[in-house]
Amino acid sequence: MIAILGALDGEIETITRALREYTTHRFGTYEFRTGTIDRVEVVVGKSGVGKARAAMVTQYLIDHFPLTKLVFTGLAGSINPDIRIGDTLVATDCLQHDIDASPLGFARGEIPYEGVRVFAADPELVERASQVLPASGRVHRGRILTGDQFIDRNGLQSMNYLRTDLAGDAVEMEGASVASVCSFNGIPFCLVRTISDEANQDAKVDFERFLPVASANSMHFIRALIGAD
Ligand code: ADE
Repeated sequence: MIAILGALDGEIETITRALREYTTHRFGTYEFRTGTIDRVEVVVGKSGVGKARAAMVTQYLIDHFPLTKLVFTGLAGSINPDIRIGDTLVATDCLQHDIDASPLGFARGEIPYEGVRVFAADPELVERASQVLPASGRVHRGRILTGDQFIDRNGLQSMNYLRTDLAGDAVEMEGASVASVCSFNGIPFCLVRTISDEANQDAKVDFERFLPVASANSMHFIRALIGAD
């Protein structure tokens, strides 16, 4: 069974609508649906926003369903001038930009005392997602940075390290948390994000405008990623 997650209902709406013969499962205030898309068994739901909720939901799904892989989809803010609004970013890897134990001698992004920093997405899923022809825009591969902040210009100006030290291409609020839990449990994962904004002064407006666009765009990628399994 393949898990398909997005942070918000709006980010997975098109995918939820494509589900056939589904059953609903409750977890607290969250709802997950198991069913089929293109005859492939999937569980679809939202992770909630931020690293804590995303980790909680990912572990719940791993514990309750026989997952073979997990695909996370939704929006991200580009911090790479070559990656524009409407493009799609397939993460080759990701890390948490806001974990920082540098006073203890650890690199920014590193989980202290575990030697773990960057989470690599499953190479085969990355390859498959990179071949998808999106409805519009270009498809890029790159590095996603995850943290518990929605970043606009004010944040970005004081966070040069996102590009310089961490070599990030886009920012969002769940991916590396999901990746951390998947990697801990040995579940292959893939993150596909539609670029909604450029983490600048327009980020809020662009983000809200892009929710339905992202949901439709994600469907192209989901079909490619769950097929031919
Ligand atoms: N998701 C989409 N845009 C974002 C931004 N600018 N910061 C954090 N998460 C985002």
